[in-house]
Amino acid sequence: MAQRPYIVGNWKMHGTRAMLSEARAIDRAAERLTKVEVALAPPFTLVHATRKEAGLIGVGAQDCHPAEGGAHTGDISAPMLKDSGAGFVIVGHSERRSDHGESNELVRRKAEAALAAGLAVIVCVGESEAERDAGKAVKVVTAQLEASLPESTDCAEKLTVAYEPVWAIGTGRVPSVDDVSEMHRAIRAMLVGKFGEAGETVRILYGGSVKPDNAAELLGANEVGGALVGGASLTAESFLGIILAAAGENTD
Ligand code: PGA
Repeated sequence: MAQRPYIVGNWKMHGTRAMLSEARAIDRAAERLTKVEVALAPPFTLVHATRKEAGLIGVGAQDCHPAEGGAHTGDISAPMLKDSGAGFVIVGHSERRSDHGESNELVRRKAEAALAAGLAVIVCVGESEAERDAGKAVKVVTAQLEASLPESTDCAEKLTVAYEPVWAIGTGRVPSVDDVSEMHRAIRAMLVGKFGEAGETVRILYGGSVKPDNAAELLGANEVGGALVGGASLTAESFLGIILAAAGENTD
């Protein structure tokens, strides 16, 4: 049976408590739109409050440290996230990879730490514009994913993959539906190679400039199981446009 589309909002470094009203509005809409699984990843400072204010949607974080605890000033561990009410964590976002020099190996260790803490994990991968132009996108992304996934072959049900072309994030540019389909099929093949049959059930999200007016088309691409949404998740109004598109409801 087909899974419900999974629509995840990544608030990045946006949001103070004043934004909890947006989370509440998203939560209320999710109550009605049961055909879609909705989640938000606010900044660390809002994880606990979002969990309390929004009882139905998933709530997660945008990063974690690979260690359980220790002398790592300013970092947050996966068990801390679990304790604050998070149900999942995003790892390997391209902004973490570029701003903090995160390698595939570090991303893998973070994913493993998250699983060990009982969190679900969204592992992000994506090619640069130069890699796309050089015709290497599929090769680059599947290799990146292979090296970023947890070593265990027993965690498929806790795993989501997000394909986010770096050049499409925050730019308003999106790949063609054919390119998205090609990439998602390649990712699916890689997942089935690693996890066997369970690899068929791992959701593969598309991310990068998803908006209410392009969501239906992108979500309709082959093997796209949902979306990871940045800018358009910051207000309930635009995020709901995407959730409605995922539910197959016309927003015109
Ligand atoms: P965007 O960000 O929707 O603002 O392009 C997506 C992401 O980085 O997850």
